[in-house]
Amino acid sequence: MLVTGAGGQLGRALAEEFAADGVVAVTREAWDVTLPPPSGLDAGGLVLHAAAWTDVDGAEDDPQGAAAVNVGGTANVAALGAPLVYYSTDYVFDGRKGEPYVESDSPNPQSAYGRSKLHGEAAAGDQAWIVRSSWLFGPTGNNFVRTMLRLAAERDEVSVVDDQRGSPTYVGHLAAATRQLLHLPYGVYHVAAEGDATWADFAEAIFEGAGLETRVRRITTAELDPPRKAPRPAYSVLRSEKGAPQLPHWRDGLHECLAAIG
Ligand SMILES: NC(=O)c1ccc[n+]([C@@H]2O[C@H](COP(=O)([O-])OP(=O)(O)OC[C@H]3O[C@@H](n4cnc5c(N)ncnc54)[C@H](OP(=O)(O)O)[C@@H]3O)[C@@H](O)[C@H]2O)c1
Repeated sequence: MLVTGAGGQLGRALAEEFAADGVVAVTREAWDVTLPPPSGLDAGGLVLHAAAWTDVDGAEDDPQGAAAVNVGGTANVAALGAPLVYYSTDYVFDGRKGEPYVESDSPNPQSAYGRSKLHGEAAAGDQAWIVRSSWLFGPTGNNFVRTMLRLAAERDEVSVVDDQRGSPTYVGHLAAATRQLLHLPYGVYHVAAEGDATWADFAEAIFEGAGLETRVRRITTAELDPPRKAPRPAYSVLRSEKGAPQLPHWRDGLHECLAAIG
């Protein structure tokens, strides 16, 4: 099997989870997915497609660049002809439902990133598991946990938004759930951590878990200075009505992540 985006946080977790299965893990340097695959690349029987444009605000400035990776790149991966797992996002929803989103809810992305990921779902083709997850974090790469730990080293107090609610999902748990998902029929599945939180709740749990005294000042999205370019859904908790694999609670994921960071 093949993992794309193997340098990213989820790609690394997938490469680790499937290490004993003879996985071929390709980074962006080995295959820029906006281009045809390098000659001789063998997809094997399955592609775990974790490569993506994930700069949510940057996509507002360059929606075509985001689409080239998230839609065009996914079409290139699907053209390999192997069944594929495509990782999608809670940002395909507008966040106005106010209760957990299930697979049959209609997407209505509010950002260029969300639109590109939704079109990418279609580009994944018929032989695909579409895994929508949310608020990914892990011991490597760019994510909220690592950002908060960095800020805590510099400041006594951090301002964090308290009016966006989601399910922070540990990449190791999502990678393990991917293995179970492969026993289900192709289609769209919501796979996110148990429990939900605002970013401010999550930040407090990070500082507490890391034994830091840093305080969290709870602010609204409107108070963010400078404001973010891309709108985010106010509520994007994902749940499954289709028997998707269930993940541990985000607090368990945080515990594992902090232990891995050391
Ligand atoms: N992060 C989240 O909160 C979140 C939430 C829900 C769903 N997802 C989805 O989950 C998947 C994995 O996300 P992640 O958090 O692991 O993101 P990530 O850490 O940013 O990893 C994405 C990887 O894709 C690579 N990449 C970017 N453009 C590429 C290209 N043209 N060709 C090949 N590789 C390319 C990146 O390389 P560079 O670093 O060199 O750019 C990076 O290694 C994505 O599909 C994302 O949309 C993420």
